[in-house]
Amino acid sequence: MPTKRKLWPMDGHTAGKHLVLRVYLNAWFGILSNRFDQLLFVDGFAGPGEYKTGEDGSPLVALKAVIEHTHSKVQSTKIRYIFIDCDKARLEHLQAKVFAEIDDIPPNIRIDFFCETFEKATDKHIIPAQEGLLGNPCFIMIDPFGVNQTPLNAITKIMSFPRTEVYISLMYEFINRFKKQPEFESSLNMLFGCTDWQKHSQIDDKEARKKELYKLYKNKLKESCAKQVVHFDLYNGNKLKYGVFFATQNILGSQKIKEAIWKVVPKGDFAFRSENNPQLNINIEKPNFEPLQEILISYLKDRGFVSIKEILEYIDSDSTEFHRGHVKANGLKVIENKGELAVSVKRTLNKPRRALTYPDDCLIMIE
Ligand SMILES: C[S@@+](CC[C@H](N)C(=O)[O-])C[C@H]1O[C@@H](n2cnc3c(N)ncnc32)[C@H](O)[C@@H]1O
Repeated sequence: MPTKRKLWPMDGHTAGKHLVLRVYLNAWFGILSNRFDQLLFVDGFAGPGEYKTGEDGSPLVALKAVIEHTHSKVQSTKIRYIFIDCDKARLEHLQAKVFAEIDDIPPNIRIDFFCETFEKATDKHIIPAQEGLLGNPCFIMIDPFGVNQTPLNAITKIMSFPRTEVYISLMYEFINRFKKQPEFESSLNMLFGCTDWQKHSQIDDKEARKKELYKLYKNKLKESCAKQVVHFDLYNGNKLKYGVFFATQNILGSQKIKEAIWKVVPKGDFAFRSENNPQLNINIEKPNFEPLQEILISYLKDRGFVSIKEILEYIDSDSTEFHRGHVKANGLKVIENKGELAVSVKRTLNKPRRALTYPDDCLIMIE
């Protein structure tokens, strides 16, 4: 683990995480700058800003998402960045890198660098910045090296502010490795904000144990005001690197993060998998949408007519790994075309329906 080096080489799963971050932030800054006049981005474990192999670190990814954004409102919205790292050399490297890459920081952007631990910075810098936002949106990246620097109570405090989203890397292998070592007990109690992880860590079956520990973490994030918690695992080859948990108070956030994952997955030397459908490989060119069809059938079967709006929101939610862009062509149309179940579609606007289409005003019934 590169805890002492100032720079380290980038690996495939980090590239995957950054690609998702960039695509998501393009949507986040673009959509929110239309509605709000201030936005806050916090990188709680900012790192040195670049990798030994020259790639941008997450702070530069987030800065470029704004500077290179094509939507004019993004350039006129007040955007504040807070970059935190407890390692002085890395933070200084980041600062130099930011000013070397971006000659003229645009006047709508403010950047603060704080050499602190994330935990201390939460009370000293993050919460005061959130208070100053007066309800405007905030995105916080939490990307530590291990599991003992991200106490749940700090995340809970941050998430108690409206329109706050967190993107957390959870080093599952650390949890798994250290769960039986007494010296890590208090770190894991802090990470989960409870002691329940101890009973789940006794589960013999590896996959079942992971599922329960992830479920616990997701539930804890939900208790902390997150309405949606989208989780996926990042793999390098067949090796699980970490779980990414994205917690948001808005269904649009879960839709956009899933769109970002689906958009970037075929692009690199990394893989995303979900805990609900481990067989679902979204990295291949032709993903298998049978799990989506099964989800739709069990959601709709024998419920009478359900609006397409409700169906799209359900698929966008953290109950599935799919998003609304998949529902019609890869879900409803395939089910109806197969003809095994009776699918009825009626429009609420008094207009005709073309076969195998599902306009936004329609109601759907599966029997
Ligand atoms: C995984 S790296 C961050 C990489 C960066 N987010 C990126 O994607 O380019 C973790 C960083 O957190 C810093 N760090 C470690 N413990 C910390 C703590 N308790 N609080 C804040 N930063 C910490 C390390 O110095 C390191 O630079």
